[in-house]
Amino acid sequence: MMSERFDLSAAPLPACSPLRLGEVAPDFTARSTRGVLTLSDLRGRWVVLFSHPADFTPVCTSEFVALARARDRFEALGTELVALSVDSLFSHLAWIRAIHDRFGVAVDFPIIEDPTLEIARAYGMIGPDAVDASAVRSTYFLDPEGVLRASTCYPASAGRSVEEMLRLLAALQRVHDGSALAPEGWTPGDDLLRVPSQSVADVLAADSGTEWFYATMPDGKR
Ligand code: BEZ
Repeated sequence: MMSERFDLSAAPLPACSPLRLGEVAPDFTARSTRGVLTLSDLRGRWVVLFSHPADFTPVCTSEFVALARARDRFEALGTELVALSVDSLFSHLAWIRAIHDRFGVAVDFPIIEDPTLEIARAYGMIGPDAVDASAVRSTYFLDPEGVLRASTCYPASAGRSVEEMLRLLAALQRVHDGSALAPEGWTPGDDLLRVPSQSVADVLAADSGTEWFYATMPDGKR
């Protein structure tokens, strides 16, 4: 007998982002739940652009509830959230209403419709030959110039961590000027790492054999 459940293990492997860190992310204009949105109009702000496989699905719903609840924390980081899936604008609107009714949260960041998969293809959220809409959970962290600073790619079967999205965003912003490095698990206020010198003289003058490449510094920006 055929199962009526999604067989997530059989999903074709999507091509994860062909975009390279340091490149300007492709611009687009598309309909969204907050009106027509042109990505480049958001220049000057950090942007977290993310895809979800489908409206009205459980993992995606859990992510959107958590993101809607964290909206103020993204705002505090000067960051716009922009969601995207192949579903129609009216599907997005109906899903937002269902989320509001069940969880009491308003999803007030834009959700883009990408019915032709044009944006998903340009970003590598799906393989170039994909005929269906199974965009993976791709996330693109764009700086105020629209340059890709980090991206993640999760399967449909496992949700993202909003806490980790916020942490990574804060780390990217803190190291953006090149004056420091963020160590494993860094959160604002934690010590940072110095950018190592590339000079032999500095290496030999260092206090120890590790100090030249591993030296902490306080996060003075807090
Ligand atoms: C989800 O729960 O988000 C999901 C489930 C099946 C297919 C795609 C997404």
